[in-house]
Amino acid sequence: MSQAHLIELPKVEDPRGNLTFIEEVRHMPFCIQRVYWIYDVPGGQVRGGHAFKEQREVIVALSGSFDVVCDDGVSKKVYTLNRSYYGLYIPALNWRQMLNFSTNSLALVLSSTRYHREDYIYDYEAFLQLRNSHEQHDL
Ligand code: TYD
Repeated sequence: MSQAHLIELPKVEDPRGNLTFIEEVRHMPFCIQRVYWIYDVPGGQVRGGHAFKEQREVIVALSGSFDVVCDDGVSKKVYTLNRSYYGLYIPALNWRQMLNFSTNSLALVLSSTRYHREDYIYDYEAFLQLRNSHEQHDL
């Protein structure tokens, strides 16, 4: 199973302002089925707090900063996203939370699937069990 990791995106530096882009074929580990964004997050609020069975995603802090806690069932890692030329890739079956949103932060999420309510795992123990059963299967 692949692990969460940062993807460095192109940055075209220019005195008129910098520019970054994403091309699905060059930069994305999956085909983009959906794009959504999280904004106007009041101080202290936490988003996420679940895992996905299928959905893979790349999260970009288009503006401001926030932390993404990724937990693969064995270890937890905190990624502070505060540069719009980095994307955080999160594979399926990772428990993830987004927190410490700065004022006016904007989180862009590129998703490998359309929205499916049934894809969400909200129970941490169920997540661990599913994760373990996948790992057994991969052996
Ligand atoms: P949810 O993914 O639960 O937010 P978070 O994980 O950040 O706390 O989504 C919140 C609500 O928005 C939920 O009622 C479903 C709805 N929603 C959609 O309708 N389409 C989407 O693509 C997403 C991401 C959420």
